[in-house]
Amino acid sequence: MERIAFYPCWANDIRQPALALTGIADEIIYCDVSTHLRDDPSLVGGSGPRRTFWQKDVRDALRQIPRIDVFFYRRDGTSEGGSGIFVLGREIMPLILEKMMAESSLFITDGSNSRGGTFRKMKRTAGLQIFGKHISKGQEQRFQHLGMIEFDVRHEY
Ligand SMILES: C[S@@+](CC[C@H](N)C(=O)[O-])C[C@H]1O[C@@H](n2cnc3c(N)ncnc32)[C@H](O)[C@@H]1O
Repeated sequence: MERIAFYPCWANDIRQPALALTGIADEIIYCDVSTHLRDDPSLVGGSGPRRTFWQKDVRDALRQIPRIDVFFYRRDGTSEGGSGIFVLGREIMPLILEKMMAESSLFITDGSNSRGGTFRKMKRTAGLQIFGKHISKGQEQRFQHLGMIEFDVRHEY
């Protein structure tokens, strides 16, 4: 099955994620409410994951996306210019996790817009049990050069 990556609030951040997720995802769905965003012409026709662009609110996108195998999210904030949405918080996290249907999915983030200690708890040795899933730091850390941590998401049994 094709592996779908979802990147909400991407602004203009296309190239690095596309390169970093080559071989990890078959498609990246970039989602942002902004109407001014365009694909990176230097990537057009190149290899790497297929790039799909959704101009939508992250919450609407999460309701519509069929599944998420890889969640990618970074460099957002709550001050000016940031989405102000607590993506790693009680409202959005369940929407993300319920779309992670595979035995094992990836959650890659720098911890932007975390609320209620979510990111801190995800990093603990024991990880975080939340909304029917267990999230723990991956043994492999392939995104450190982007300032991001890679987590495994598994079904809680
Ligand atoms: C700080 S920027 C993100 C930077 C980007 N992740 C990067 O690494 O360069 C925040 C982005 O969130 C988008 N945004 C704001 N509200 C949103 C919403 N409700 N749903 C999706 N995107 C939203 C903005 O349009 C803006 O592009």
